[in-house]
Amino acid sequence: MNNGAKRRVGILISGRGSNMLSLIEAAKAPDFPAQIVAVGSNKPEAKGLETASKEGFATFAVDHKLYGKDREAFERDLDAKLRENNVELLVLAGFLRLLTPWFVHQWQGRMINIHPALLPSFTGLHTHERALTEGVRIHGATVHFVTAEMDVGPIIAQGAVPVLDGDTPDALAARVLEVEHRIYPIALEAVASGKVHISGLRVKIDNSEHEGDSLIA
Ligand code: GRF
Repeated sequence: MNNGAKRRVGILISGRGSNMLSLIEAAKAPDFPAQIVAVGSNKPEAKGLETASKEGFATFAVDHKLYGKDREAFERDLDAKLRENNVELLVLAGFLRLLTPWFVHQWQGRMINIHPALLPSFTGLHTHERALTEGVRIHGATVHFVTAEMDVGPIIAQGAVPVLDGDTPDALAARVLEVEHRIYPIALEAVASGKVHISGLRVKIDNSEHEGDSLIA
């Protein structure tokens, strides 16, 4: 941890917020190196906002629909909310808006995302359906730094699950979601502790050559 101070984390969601909740739970540990200071959404009706608020967290909504096609105006307001809360690290947890290079630049190296596939396979949407169609035997989830290109940033943690014969997209999604809830807190802990360094497309972890093992589930 940096001089004993917890890093200030903002979480952005668009929906139910189960990953957000896994991070909230993890951050309750006294030695967790990050504290969640705000949860925001582009959808005022997102279920996760209610959950966060019940848990006692400050929440905000910046409704993208009010901005029409002006993505940057939406993002400037979002960015302002995060800065108001002195957010240092930004965690996207099911945040379903594409971000412009301007926003990505503001948070470069300080913004992470979880994607429900083993990147670089299956970027984009409908990952579970596509994994079944393609017949892969292993599927999973990836936590990565966000860069201007979607689902392409340096990989921090990955977790894998088997694809089973009788799987439907929903069954596979549920298996992957359990992995998401396991790896996201581990990845945030690694980043917030200051041990994670970006080197090109690779992520390096300080201290131990074995430390990276905990980032594979
Ligand atoms: C997760 O599957 C995440 O990987 C994807 O969107 C989903 C969000 O679920 N980006 P939740 O809102 O965290 O429950």
